[in-house]
Amino acid sequence: MPNTTSTRVLVVDDDPRQRSILVEMVGSLGFTALPAADGAEAMELHTDSPADVIISDLIMPRMDGFELLRNLETRGYRTPTIVLTGFGSIEKAISVVHDLKAFWFLEKPVQPGILRALIERAAAQNRLVEETEVLNRQLSFHGVLGDLVGGSHPMRQVFLEIQQVAPTSASVLITGESGTGKELVARALHRLSPRVSGPFVPINCAALTETLIESELFGHEKGAFTGALERHIGCFEQANNGTVFLDEIGEMPIGTQSKLLRVLEDRKVRRLGGKIDLPVEVRVVAATNQNPEDAIREKHLREDLYYRLNVFHIHLPPLRERKEDIPAISEAILATLNKKHGCRVAGLQAAALERMQAYSWPGNVRELRNVLERAAIMAGEGMIQPKHMAMDPMMTVAEAAPVAAEPESGESLSVRPGASLEEIEEAYINRILRQTNNNKTKAAEILGISVRTLHNRLGQLTRGKANAAG
Ligand SMILES: Nc1ncnc2c1ncn2[C@@H]1O[C@H](COP(=O)(O)OP(=O)(O)OP(=O)(O)O)[C@@H](O)[C@H]1O
Ligand SMILES: [Mg+2]
Repeated sequence: MPNTTSTRVLVVDDDPRQRSILVEMVGSLGFTALPAADGAEAMELHTDSPADVIISDLIMPRMDGFELLRNLETRGYRTPTIVLTGFGSIEKAISVVHDLKAFWFLEKPVQPGILRALIERAAAQNRLVEETEVLNRQLSFHGVLGDLVGGSHPMRQVFLEIQQVAPTSASVLITGESGTGKELVARALHRLSPRVSGPFVPINCAALTETLIESELFGHEKGAFTGALERHIGCFEQANNGTVFLDEIGEMPIGTQSKLLRVLEDRKVRRLGGKIDLPVEVRVVAATNQNPEDAIREKHLREDLYYRLNVFHIHLPPLRERKEDIPAISEAILATLNKKHGCRVAGLQAAALERMQAYSWPGNVRELRNVLERAAIMAGEGMIQPKHMAMDPMMTVAEAAPVAAEPESGESLSVRPGASLEEIEEAYINRILRQTNNNKTKAAEILGISVRTLHNRLGQLTRGKANAAG
């Protein structure tokens, strides 16, 4: 028999008579009842000292039951809430349970037997949620959160931020250099949210034409444009009740950004060529490896969209600023690589680890993974030695100091004999971009060209490669 007296039940009803009947009934069933006259008062009491279960009427002045449910969600409370409904309004009750994630509904007049069963089940769910949260906190304390590994101070901070914001429906902007784990953070946010049973839909906003990306985001009707042979359901519709992950948001065409902003404001999408607006209930997580302020200044990112997306900001520091994470991350990656390639690598020799610590990791954890993958295949078993590791010998820490404003004079660039001029140019541009943390304004300054020219040149080089490949 669960200890019912410790179960605190917040009873929210504006009708004093109805409220005192409920308070008395809850008390007589052995629970502790806490009365509140409307959603606003309930929110105050709950913030002060959270109840285990909430029972709330729907129609109330100031803050009604719908608003209360929305408020609880955005503030990250997962307290099970039972809503009171008038006789015969089952449809409305179901929609509250479905859309606003109420625990269940209770028809008036309330029957004590049903009330007891519901409170007990709700309290049991609440205990489970709390236990999971405690476990998650312990895991993150031990340096693991989802697939993310890292016990360094900055990574612990990131874990804490993920846990704080995941249960809410607030939009999140993740920044960090390429390969720092932005996508893993986005997935962890989804996995630790109440939307976990809903879809996680990632979309890369770069490398697509304006029409294609809009069709990917919002969908299209048959015949909306040349080539639209069938109706297509876009990411926002697909991600309903889940999370959409807008990757490389700074690369999205500026025209598309204003359409996206409208969708985020109205919470409705219209397919290309469509006539109706469809409501969507989606949590938005966006990522960029650019500095958002630079992107706004360079007119790659709309400022109003940035503010919409950046309700909560998570920044992933580059690996060179958290080298103490290298051993634990390597261990986790090696475990997955052993499985993937059927090898039996036991770990890293001290000398190999030393080399890793001395390296600057311009490609961050992705590069670490690549180096380890090659090393694991080469070693096959036993310990990884320095000779198994292929890293860019140019990029030792001393040389690739983070965010060098200007390259050291006399610094050399290694050139493969027979390399084309384009290859050398690209290698040099990439080198400067790495040195400036992908800051295109600074890179252009060092290269002595305008930011626009740099963008054009990068586009030409990428297209040149794509043409050569295709
Ligand atoms: N903290 C971490 N622990 C374990 N693996 C990690 C961690 N961070 C990143 N990785 C691994 O590194 C690789 C790159 O991560 P991810 O794709 O999330 O980076 P990203 O920031 O999205 O990069 P990009 O900007 O290039 O898209 C993946 O294989 C991922 O599993
Ligand atoms: Mg990514």
